[in-house]
Amino acid sequence: MLSTRLTERLGIRHPILSAPMAFASGGALASAVTHAGGLGLIGGGYGDAEWLQREFLAAGNARIGCGFITWSMAENPALLADALAHAPAAMMLSFGDPRPHAGQIKATGAVLICQVQTLAHVADALEAGADIIVAQGSEAGGHGAKRATMTLVPEIATLLQRRSPDTLLVAAGGIADGRGLAAALALGADGVLMGSRFWACRESLAHPAHQAVALRSDGDQTIRQSATDIARGYDWPSGFTARVINNRFVQDWEHRPEEHRARAGELRAAYQAAVAAGDPDHAAVWVGEATGLIEEIESAAAIIERTVGEAEAIIARLGTLRDGR
Ligand SMILES: Cc1cc2nc3c(=O)[nH]c(=O)nc-3n(C[C@H](O)[C@H](O)[C@H](O)COP(=O)(O)O)c2cc1C
Repeated sequence: MLSTRLTERLGIRHPILSAPMAFASGGALASAVTHAGGLGLIGGGYGDAEWLQREFLAAGNARIGCGFITWSMAENPALLADALAHAPAAMMLSFGDPRPHAGQIKATGAVLICQVQTLAHVADALEAGADIIVAQGSEAGGHGAKRATMTLVPEIATLLQRRSPDTLLVAAGGIADGRGLAAALALGADGVLMGSRFWACRESLAHPAHQAVALRSDGDQTIRQSATDIARGYDWPSGFTARVINNRFVQDWEHRPEEHRARAGELRAAYQAAVAAGDPDHAAVWVGEATGLIEEIESAAAIIERTVGEAEAIIARLGTLRDGR
């Protein structure tokens, strides 16, 4: 058993959270992660009240959390109230200022998790009263920014030790197995949040044809880009790009954003049809550099069990180095 401040604070068996991935993290995935000893989060994404209601119901009685893309939720704040009405154990905010929403979340007793990409974001998260900060490195699948997990996590660990020692730290971005979990703990994190690894699991809502692409891709084949946001008409704040597989769609459009913007309206129906069909070439395949570490579509429980087992073995082996055995 890996017992950390995260397992104690959240009352979970393993220091693993599943990311609230838009369109992928539904109730089935969140509850599977929770039942396997982690904490599963439903992906509130860009906010669809009906979808959210359905997925909370699909999670049954499992103790789960939820996460929103903050700038998008701020345009429709009723969604936050809807989600909180389901009494989630935790609410995660990413990509936007958490401060206006923190009071409402904390008043329900939910644990406030803020995902950050920079040190400036950490300052906002602390002001919001975050219980847990997720430091997200650029290796991550989906939206993110520029800093690498390897330096972002320890830099924030030191900052928290000095300024807010009771705030927990979780590492995200490129973590998909026990090596990543052990490394995150070594860097000063209390646990990990994994997205791509759970995106490619049985309970995920990701299209099987897209998961098949991830199985045969390596980390070199992903790219941070914005063509996906232009295609969908999402007005993401500057500084955030999305990591996806560098497929034909990205190669067609990423180098000509102005033309893409001008034609996106006319192309949108075809893009959405490609998404719905699981077309791996003409729609974005949302997975991060961790794609190179994924070899099988397993259950969430199998992923968690193996990740924890590997991390325990690595930590034990490192202990023997010190003893010179
Ligand atoms: C398919 C996909 C969708 C994502 N959607 C969201 C989202 O809606 N909200 C969010 O906070 N993070 C989202 N993320 C980012 C995750 O929260 C997390 O930071 C990331 O998955 C961690 O890196 P990893 O993919 O290497 O595990 C998404 C990630 C992926 C792979």
